Amino acid sequence: MMLKDSVMGSLPPVVRDQVDAWLEAAEVVSEMKDPRVLRSLGPASVRGLILHRGKQGTPTKMPAHHSAHFDWTYPADQPEMRDLYKRAKAGQWDGDKDLPWSISVDPENPEVPILAPDFIDHQLLAKHGVRLDEKERLRLDYSLVTWMLSQFLHGEQGALFAAAQVTEAVQFFDGKLYGATQVMDEGRHVEVFSRYLQDKLGRLYQVNDNLFVIIDALMTDGRWDMKFLGMQIMVEGLALGAFSTLFTMTKEPLLKELLKRVILDEARHVHYGVIALKQHINQELSERERSEREDWAYEVALLMRNRFMAYEVFDEWFAGRLSREAWREVVLGAPGMSRFRHTMFKRLVPNLRDIGLMTPRIMPAYERAGLTEYFGGKAAPELTGEQMVADLEREAA
Ligand SMILES: [Fe+2]
Ligand SMILES: [Fe+2]
Repeated sequence: MMLKDSVMGSLPPVVRDQVDAWLEAAEVVSEMKDPRVLRSLGPASVRGLILHRGKQGTPTKMPAHHSAHFDWTYPADQPEMRDLYKRAKAGQWDGDKDLPWSISVDPENPEVPILAPDFIDHQLLAKHGVRLDEKERLRLDYSLVTWMLSQFLHGEQGALFAAAQVTEAVQFFDGKLYGATQVMDEGRHVEVFSRYLQDKLGRLYQVNDNLFVIIDALMTDGRWDMKFLGMQIMVEGLALGAFSTLFTMTKEPLLKELLKRVILDEARHVHYGVIALKQHINQELSERERSEREDWAYEVALLMRNRFMAYEVFDEWFAGRLSREAWREVVLGAPGMSRFRHTMFKRLVPNLRDIGLMTPRIMPAYERAGLTEYFGGKAAPELTGEQMVADLEREAA
């Protein structure tokens, strides 16, 4: 560590930041202890973290290897999924008509803060020699919220394609009908986030490399349940955590309404993910296959907790003024980010428990990661979207 510090300290800032990025990529891969997890996430990590495939300014092609599962008898096989399908049909909304797009948004207006003013701890930035005045703080919040919403949008694009793939591949017939509504939901989410970014914020950040890694890994895995675990449980859990945090923090009324509607849809998606996987993991998989998924979920959970560092914002604001290491300290110590991590794991951990991926075998690892406090929480099937929003509204008040 000492040697690394002294070598890093002697490098010019641009080179130092590049070396830091490579070291971080190497660390991500070396942390994966299970070789099966490494086979799944390793190639995706190279494409995302080293080659920056999501940032080449050209469309990305990801080969998919799943098989479409046809059933010519059209069984009514999953009443709970059929019920979700009915609720999803009734809950459809129109991104054009149902949101108050006439509201004009000024992300730098201190009267209507788009992010909580204490999202970043400015003392921490000052400790590293960066002092921002009032106007700059508002502009930094504008960048951060735009970065977050851009990642939501990229995640929604992944969710749209993953939902379509899973609809083909899943063996439950009622799941396929439900899946069709989810494809529509995700299409609408892409529509509303991209419209908000384009019309109200006027900017879009590139996809975060770690988010790219997760999307790449699940899109290119031929096993439907890996796509499902990756998207319906992990990424949707991450998204719900992030949407909920932003929902409680923002005072911007259009964004608040948009997030509320998206949260109601996402709660259904996670619910579907939990019931489908619970059945599949407990009835179809061998212990060896189950433990692989358990390890995979743990690695992805760590990736989501430790690696979403908003480097795209760092590059724009602080490259050359701060080291990436100092920026990580600022992000990890940001009250807004810790609220986000808390909400994400509060949702995610009980779902992993419910589907059978949190057995005593993996518990010590979660304990070491400091996630024990979430073990006893409510899983998605015990919590409707409406209850979730009501809780959040109380929290925000
Ligand atoms: Fe979505
Ligand atoms: Fe979703």
